[in-house]
Amino acid sequence: MIYKNYINGKWISSSSGKTFKNINPANPTQILGKFQDSNKNDVDKAVQAAESAYESWSSLPAAKRGDILYRAAHLLKENKERLARIMTLEMGKVLKESRGDVQEAIDITEYMAGEGRRLLGHTTPSELTDKFCLTIRMPVGVFGLITPWNFPAAIPAWKIMPALICGNTIVFKPASDTPQSAIELVKILIRAGVPKGVLNLVTGSGQGVGRPMIKHDQIQGISFTGSKQVGEFVMQNAGLKKVGLELGGKNAIIIMDDADLKLALDGVIWGAFGTTGQRCTAASRIIIHKKIKPKFEKMLVKATKKLKLGPGIKSSTDVGPLINEKAVEKVHHYTHIGINEGAKLLTGGKIPKKKGFYYEPTIFTDVSWNMKIAQEEIFGPSLSIIPVKDIDEAIHVCNSTPYGLSSAIYTKSLRNAFLAIEKIQAGLTYVNSSTIGSEIHLPFGGVKGTGHGREAGIEGIDEFSEIKTVYFDFSGKLQKAQGIK
Ligand code: UN1
Repeated sequence: MIYKNYINGKWISSSSGKTFKNINPANPTQILGKFQDSNKNDVDKAVQAAESAYESWSSLPAAKRGDILYRAAHLLKENKERLARIMTLEMGKVLKESRGDVQEAIDITEYMAGEGRRLLGHTTPSELTDKFCLTIRMPVGVFGLITPWNFPAAIPAWKIMPALICGNTIVFKPASDTPQSAIELVKILIRAGVPKGVLNLVTGSGQGVGRPMIKHDQIQGISFTGSKQVGEFVMQNAGLKKVGLELGGKNAIIIMDDADLKLALDGVIWGAFGTTGQRCTAASRIIIHKKIKPKFEKMLVKATKKLKLGPGIKSSTDVGPLINEKAVEKVHHYTHIGINEGAKLLTGGKIPKKKGFYYEPTIFTDVSWNMKIAQEEIFGPSLSIIPVKDIDEAIHVCNSTPYGLSSAIYTKSLRNAFLAIEKIQAGLTYVNSSTIGSEIHLPFGGVKGTGHGREAGIEGIDEFSEIKTVYFDFSGKLQKAQGIK
């Protein structure tokens, strides 16, 4: 099957005449489809279409745009199981997590549909008499959305739904490892009634599609989720566009000596090896009080060895494959780095002799905070245990990476918990719960090298709208602010 781009209300081929293959990471000889390997010409067409559609879409009452989103949410619900299966086949994650991914898309679609009847500004008194002050929201214009493969429905939905409700038109480039989920999402939005030109999909590489989008003069906003390296490219090349970036993490779970270790164990297994460690929010560091380290390590190794690797489509599987061969090489490369840096390998570290892009859940201990394996995002099932003596050292180590997305602490002490809440430099801190599993009605994003901006929640609206301040003077005379007479 050959899939096409969706531009100005039509499914069309790329002007490059080229396609690329999408494969099943659990069974790499299985080709799931061919997709357009697009180029700058296709991006230009999509931007033209988005620009032409902007006037009428942005003029439509937001509640009417919301009606379309409500219909899309309904269609997503009807298609949830089918979409989850498509997702597991192309992305690899276990089916129950793919269902969660589609559910996250449903949730944000409903939430943003409701925004059609809010899109709140604020009113505040003027310093002068007979003058009224308020703010209103405006769309930004044509928005470029560039999304990753690890949440093939949820992350595109986090961007598309608020962008639409705010009245923007869109050029959407999904990740090349998961284009089919993106196409399914777009088809649902079309069926729900999104008019032609409002949402345009262009598949292809970062070089061929992403780069011309980032540099495009007629695109006013870019929202990107992906690597720090590409995020830096966006910052350097997007000119004066409105930019939102979510660039991953090196998220830590702190486990204090008073923690419920069974609870912490469940959180670590889920945070580190759920989605095969391929979440921006994945727990890749355990910062543990040295008193409980030996006991916890034993528990952790035992639980990790029980995890079953296999195709995500099989219900007995705990850990699916990695996304592609390059990812396996990358994770394995970090295993070598860890060994060379002098960390102690507790379990894993091998590529299983199995068809598919699998990697054994891997745990290093006696890792020091400044080793590469404790500083760089591996994006796979690789976990580093760092021993510390107290809460202050734990927080210090937690803050020692260039990233700042998610974090967690397991403790029974209110003091430890509040110190973590106050002092950890991250966009998210969980108390007695893992680093993953954010909810769509709360803001999501990070600090430092994770980038800036917040998606989801009411704050997610800020990323896709501009504020206009309105001064309405009904005094009938020239009044000057700041006391000027
Ligand atoms: C990501 O990996 O980029 O909090 C997003 C979570 C999910 C979203 C992860 N709700 O783990």
